[in-house]
Amino acid sequence: MIKKCLFPVAGYGTRFLPATKAMPKEMMPIVNKPLVQYGVEEAARAGMNNIAFVTGRNKRAIEDHFDITYELEDQISGTSKEDYLISIRALIDQCTFSYTRQVSMKGLGDAILTGETLIGDSPFGVILADDLCESDDKGVMAQLLDVYEKYRCSVVAVEEVPMSEVHNYGVIAGDVGDDGLIFVNNMVEKPNKKDAPTNLAIIGRYVLTPDIFDILRNTAPGKGGEVQITDALLEQAKQGKVIACKFNGQRFDCGNVDGFVAATNYFYNKM
Ligand code: G1P
Repeated sequence: MIKKCLFPVAGYGTRFLPATKAMPKEMMPIVNKPLVQYGVEEAARAGMNNIAFVTGRNKRAIEDHFDITYELEDQISGTSKEDYLISIRALIDQCTFSYTRQVSMKGLGDAILTGETLIGDSPFGVILADDLCESDDKGVMAQLLDVYEKYRCSVVAVEEVPMSEVHNYGVIAGDVGDDGLIFVNNMVEKPNKKDAPTNLAIIGRYVLTPDIFDILRNTAPGKGGEVQITDALLEQAKQGKVIACKFNGQRFDCGNVDGFVAATNYFYNKM
């Protein structure tokens, strides 16, 4: 049973400036709940209650969110306003939270490697909070865990995107098995349309085996001069150790304004 889930949250969120000048992008609310809380709830629903953040400067609000706020809570104690805190209090009861800092922004691969000190030598989940995932029954991370339990290798969530958008994603190719899972044999980080092997884009949900840390240590900077998790996963894929899963549910790319607004409308209508 995988208990640990890593949240790389050190990124600047430049696409949302000026909103993210002093506030972490992961604290942007979809209706009345910050993005990062949706992610942690998804992890907790998958049984991952050991939450590890790779954080950075200007991100203290995330730590404060997953803690008690004495003065405020004392003030509203015994009033109906306490109901607003039910969801976050449940998470705080259920989970532990640990933090380490990524000192310089050297890419998602570097962020995940920075998290090694919190994860250790066991398989773990990774959630990128600005990909907000929603499904009627099992959450996306829980779906990836089912695949991990069966095959015991790294698992990535993928979805088909228009070819005009492949340059925003890690893109995979592989052989499709009977159960619809894809046994990955190629991965490219943010390819041009003409170099993309397929239109199957990785979204921000991974289950990784801990050998990924040694691979990351030896992974040279790739696209954009940053250490890419996609490049490290390609090394595992060459050994037949990466499966891609087309998940059930939908994903909102809350890292851009259109996706953020779509998620807001969706969750508002569900209230
Ligand atoms: C990262 C990964 C990319 C993946 C994407 C999913 O890119 O590098 O492979 O497809 O997350 O959201 P970013 O969006 O951080 O640029």
